[in-house]
Amino acid sequence: MTTFLVYILMLPFGHATLPFVINTWPFKDATSAAWSVLQAGGSILDAVEQGCSRCEVDQCDGSVGFGGSPDENGETTLDAMIMNGDTMEVGAVADLRRIKNAIGVARAVMQHTEHTFLVGESASVFAENMGFTAEDLTTNKSLSIFTQWLKDNCQPNYRKNVLPDPSKNCGPYKPRAMLKQRKSERQIDIHAHDTIGMIAIGQDGHVAAGTSTNGANHKIPGRVGDSSVAGAGAYADSTAGGAAATGDGDVMMRFLPSFLAVELMRTGADPSSACKTAISRIKRYYPEFFGAVICANTTGHYGAACNKLPGFSKFSFMVSDSPSNVPLLKSVDCF
Ligand code: GLY
Repeated sequence: MTTFLVYILMLPFGHATLPFVINTWPFKDATSAAWSVLQAGGSILDAVEQGCSRCEVDQCDGSVGFGGSPDENGETTLDAMIMNGDTMEVGAVADLRRIKNAIGVARAVMQHTEHTFLVGESASVFAENMGFTAEDLTTNKSLSIFTQWLKDNCQPNYRKNVLPDPSKNCGPYKPRAMLKQRKSERQIDIHAHDTIGMIAIGQDGHVAAGTSTNGANHKIPGRVGDSSVAGAGAYADSTAGGAAATGDGDVMMRFLPSFLAVELMRTGADPSSACKTAISRIKRYYPEFFGAVICANTTGHYGAACNKLPGFSKFSFMVSDSPSNVPLLKSVDCF
């Protein structure tokens, strides 16, 4: 018995009673919103949509929803996706302008089109036609972030191999002859990419996942990160599990970490190991990338992993199930 207890305590991952919800970062009200849907007998897709919508309204950490991450023109644009792990349907939007409820529009793409992914101005027109209200996403805060950035000679920015020297100057930029490739020395801002990623697992083990973000501070207009890309920002497959990622989307989307983690769980990996392998794969090429992944399987086991950096040694996430009935703050040590 004692041996059994020690074994349980040493398990490298958590276990929740189905149904349950798990999301990135300590975005507790988002967890509560999703959990309320599940408690009321609502669907896992509704739970993910409502949970992520809560963050869009609350502007979680300034990195989700309106009024955050102004681009080089000072405009906030939103990326979101939602995935049904039963049918493998996905709805996604990116570079969405003037509409606050990005995950709602992603859901509308899934429910009212045969497409998967709409972007930019056309996605906004689609949203308006679907009844979403067009509003200015700029706030005093995003305006002041943008104004300060202009005052700081547009530092930091995402340009490389251009003239004038982007590490000292604003644009417009032109390509520089690439005589010598210079390694980008972009400063890491660990608060610049705090996406909400959420997984809901139903009573019967069915899986849904979704994300919502305003992307990256001072991004180049038109930039789309990982969050709205299926397999990168999130992935759900009711025959295996779900995963969601947060962090430097420009790097992370190259590795489809959510897809990889789900595939590893399919082959029997526990959620913590699956998350760790997904992080390790990126680390091999980008040891200094900022990012974390949450993973959950269809039996209620969950885990998370993150890449250890100066100032980022623990990653927090939320879990809610019926024994707890309130969102529980969990954390994992980065490696
Ligand atoms: N992970 C959010 C982004 O980089 O857009």
